[in-house]
Order: sequence, then C-alpha cells, then structure tokens
Amino acid sequence: MCGIIGYIGGNDAASIIYSGLQRLEYRGYDSSGIAILNAGAIDMQRATGKLANLLPKLTHFQATHSSSNKQVGIGHTRWATHGGISEANAHPHLNQDGTIAVIQNGIIENYVELHTELQQAGVRFHSETDTEVVPHLLDLRMRSGMNFEQAAFAVLRRLRGANALVMMCTAVPGRMIAARLGHAGGVAIGHDEATGEAFLASDVPGILEHVRRVTFLEDGEVALIDAWHTDLRKLDGTTVQRSAITIAWDPVSAEKGEYRHFMQKEIHEQARAVTDTLRGRVNFESGEVTLNGFDGVRPTRIFSVACGTSKNSALVGRFFFESIARIPTEVDYGSEFRYRDPLLQPGEVVLGITQSGETADTLAAMSEGRNKGARVWSIVNSVGSQAERAADATIAMRTGPEIGVCSTKTFLASLVDQYMLACFLAQRSSDASIVARGHECARALALLPGLVGRMLDVDPIYEQLAQRFHDRRHFLFLGRGPNYPIALEGALKLKEVSYIHAEGYPAGEMKHGPIALIDEHMPVVCLTPQDSVYAKMVSQVEQVRARGGTVIAVITRGDEVIRAKADHVIEIPPAPELLLPMLTAIPMQRLAYHMALRLGCDVDQPRNLAKSVTVE
Ligand code: F6R
Repeated sequence: MCGIIGYIGGNDAASIIYSGLQRLEYRGYDSSGIAILNAGAIDMQRATGKLANLLPKLTHFQATHSSSNKQVGIGHTRWATHGGISEANAHPHLNQDGTIAVIQNGIIENYVELHTELQQAGVRFHSETDTEVVPHLLDLRMRSGMNFEQAAFAVLRRLRGANALVMMCTAVPGRMIAARLGHAGGVAIGHDEATGEAFLASDVPGILEHVRRVTFLEDGEVALIDAWHTDLRKLDGTTVQRSAITIAWDPVSAEKGEYRHFMQKEIHEQARAVTDTLRGRVNFESGEVTLNGFDGVRPTRIFSVACGTSKNSALVGRFFFESIARIPTEVDYGSEFRYRDPLLQPGEVVLGITQSGETADTLAAMSEGRNKGARVWSIVNSVGSQAERAADATIAMRTGPEIGVCSTKTFLASLVDQYMLACFLAQRSSDASIVARGHECARALALLPGLVGRMLDVDPIYEQLAQRFHDRRHFLFLGRGPNYPIALEGALKLKEVSYIHAEGYPAGEMKHGPIALIDEHMPVVCLTPQDSVYAKMVSQVEQVRARGGTVIAVITRGDEVIRAKADHVIEIPPAPELLLPMLTAIPMQRLAYHMALRLGCDVDQPRNLAKSVTVE
C-alpha cells in the first residue's frame, strides 16, 4: 500500500515529507525515498526496509536547505509491484539527466508497450519498475518542445490502469503536478494560506497536522500545484471547480476523508486494494506467481471453509482452483464442516478464508482439518490474527483496515488472492498445459486494477434503482457459473445493509421453485456478462420477463441483446472470463449501498451485525 507525500514551501521539505510518510507507515511498504527540488537541482535519497533507514540520509538534504527559497519535494513508501525490493526500484524515479522526478501508486497496465517504445528511442532504464517509464516519457516530450505542463498532460493521457502520480521538474521549480487515473488510491491537497505552503498526500492522515481543508482529486483529474494555489483540470485540460472539504481533527474523520461512509470509501478503494494484494506476488510479464510461505506442493484436494461473504468468495474461488490449477475443490460453511465428519487425506489442504481472521466457526473448521491430518492454509486481512497463526501458510489480503461492518474490499481481495493462489498452484503442476494456463491467467491480472477502477465511475443508475425499488420487500439475484456466488453475495449485501429480504439463486434453479415468486412486484437482478454461459442467461432473462418480473441486468458494455430485454442495465467492461466475478461483484455492493442510503439505514453498522464474529 504505497504512500505518497508532497510539499512545496519554505520549511524543511525533507523533514515534513518524512514525518508525513511516517504517518502512512501503518499501511505497509518495503522501501522508501524522497526527492527535493532545491536551487534548480533535484536531490534524491532512497532506502530499502524500514522508513527509519531513510532517516540518516535526510541530513544530506538539510545541509543544502536554506529558508530563503521555497523547496518542492516528493516522498514515497513503496510496496513492490514491478521489480524486487531494492534501492534502484524504490521511488522517486528520474529521467536520464535527473531533471524530472516521479512517484506513482498503482500499476501501469500498458507499461511493456511504453517501455519497448522508450528502449527503441534509446532510453536506458535504471530500475525494473513500471513507474520509470513516466519520467522518460516526460523527458522525450519536453525535448520535442513541450513545456512541463503540456508534457504531463500528454503522458498522462497515454497511461492505462489505476494510477496516482506526482511529478516535478527543474524547469518549473515551484510546482508539482499530481494526477489520479482509473480510481487509483486518493490524492488529497491542502494549502496553508498564511505561509504559502502546499501539502499533498495519498491519505489524509499524512498531512492533517498541517492542513485541515483539503481538496481530493477525482478520477481523471490533474492538479497543477504551487505554494499558494492548486489549479484543477480534467485530462483534456478543461478547468474543474471544486471547493476544499474541512476534515475534522479525529482519526475516524481523517480516515473517512472525502466519503460519507466507510462502506462507500471501501467500495471506492477497491482498485487500490487489488493493486496492493498483487504487489510483489505476480510478475506481470512472465506471469510467475511468488507466494511467501507456500511450499509449492500441490494439494490433491482443497476444502475451502468460510462464513458469510467469505463463503461466497470461496464459492467463486472453487472455479479458480478447478479451472486454473485443476485441483478438485469443495466449499463448506465454517459452521458446518466439522459436523459432517469430513473425510480428509494426507496431501489435502483446508483453506480458511476470513477477513477478520477471528471467526470462530472458520477457526473451528481449520482446526478440524488440522486434527484430521490436512495441511492448513488461510487468506486473511487482519495480520497476526488467529487464522494466520493457526495456518501453515497465509496470504495477507493487505487491504488496510475495513471499518464498514459489511465486507466489500476484503471480498474482492479474497477473490484476487484465491485466483493468484490458483495460478501459483497451476505453475507447480507436472502438466505443461496447466503450467502455461497458470502463467496466462496470472498475466491477465495486470488488467484488473484498471478494470475495477472503471466499475467505480460515477453512475447515476444506482441512485435511480434505489429511487425506484427502495420500497420493495423482496429481491431475487440470479447468476450462473462463477457469477452464481456473486448473486448470493448481491443478496447478502442487500439484506445486511438495507434489511430488504433477498435471495441469490443459480439461474438454472429458478424454474425449480423461485419462479413461483416472480410477478410485477419482484425485481430480479440478473448477472449476464458475456461469458460461456451467456446464452443460458439470455433465456433466464426471457423467463423472468414472461412472468412480469422486472429485470435489472448486469451486462457487458455493448450487449444490445440483453439491453433490449431488461428494464434496467448496469454495464461492466469486457474482461477475461475468470476476472468477470471481480467486476460483477461491484454493482452488487453499490446497489446495496444506495438502497440503504435511500432507506436511511446505518450503512456502516447494520443492526445485529459484528465485524468479527468470535462466537459459534
Ligand atoms: C458480510 C460480512 C459477514 C462476514 C462473515 C465472516 O458483509 O461481513 O458475512 O463475511 O461474518 O467474516 P470473516 O470474513 O471475518 O470470517
């Protein structure tokens, strides 16, 4: 979970940036760096490991600092995505002659194409990161006659994926340019109007000791920042007018930032959550997956055990393990596993999936697996939790704290983690075709943050649906294949936060009972992306329509067939089939959120629910 800090002003930039990075340390990182533009030149210091390793190097900056001129500085804590943990890979990254410095959070999806293009233009790279393409692209454009601002817009328009970036250049000594693309992690900017200082951070706690009024960048926006003022633009250069927001001086408000509710914030953090959980684990060029702590011995069978949302996630994961890794997989409720006296063999694995890592039923199921001789693995968000301690190997979701009781970003991260684990296990098969599939599927993950980002665009459909359907007492959700568990998840989300009764069903089961419920009062959410069961879903939609039901369809963009049949559509971008559930899950969350909001429910703390269910 990379952190970004920026500063312009007459005080000691290096110390201000360092203390901002310290406030973001809890988000995790593996290396750090600071660059300061002072007296016409950029100085840079980087270190691997703890931020404290950077501290002795700050004296270098302090020696050159004089309070008579304003400095511009940027700092970064990195969690590796492209390239290992090394000082050369730590941010900032510079162009050839060190006149431009850039920091970035996210994954540059089209980095291979840009890298090749730059190599052909004779650029020599000093790191293995995707970020380094940015200063070189800026440099080439400035050499061809563009000024810094023009070059920044031109380069930003070429980047694909979910990215937050900050850049500075010796040609414009008093300025930073920041951008947020594809719903990457946040960028918050504040000014001290008395002193003429500008502060920037990926997360508000990083600058809250200096400024209380902050402006947040939205997706596709660029900020031209100087000491006194920020000029907000869209990527096409048009001006954006937005007032700053006052953040209350308490940790909860600081963490919530620009959002009304944690659930809303956590839904919108998902492009970042995906990036963070992939960091350092997937090589997007080769497709190689590295999972620390996993010995690489393929289990003969996986028993996934989980509760609630995590159980829905496990049901999707079964498709990943069976289709990618070709390992037979069973899924059980944590609360049921031990009561069926499961037959376990040596060589099998019990996989506990739990965001809290403390769910009593899941822990009991894991312990049942252990007692019966299986190996035990876990996927958890809360590092150090019991489910981590009880397992032989664990994947940490790394989404940061999830405060909303209703799981959203941890659901998505657990899907990604199971997909990644399936690729990892495929790559350890003795069958070359399974190994190749493991690499191919892992490479596709580079697209995911960008695809997820597109699901978070402003879309009036959710408010419209909430307006139209908030008074209904029942909802049906239908899906097939990996989208069947997403139908279950859609129903669970809606129940939890809006208290509307909802059922999720495999679409093919509708005719065996639930069809009796369908009439003009029953909204039916149909998950119909263009995948291998699409044709079957088209006929389910027909059947709902024939009984007078109202169809809300989640469709692939451009699908005019379902659009013509459905009453309402929510679009998702085209994507590889096994990534589709990670996209269709998001409209389920957004629909539930807006319904709850419309009904005035307590979105973050729904009645009777707890974030961590430690009783059986
Ligand atoms: C739903 C939700 C619950 C949890 C369940 C298991 O939004 O949050 O259904 O998924 O209580 O929790 P964990 O994942 O902590 O084991």
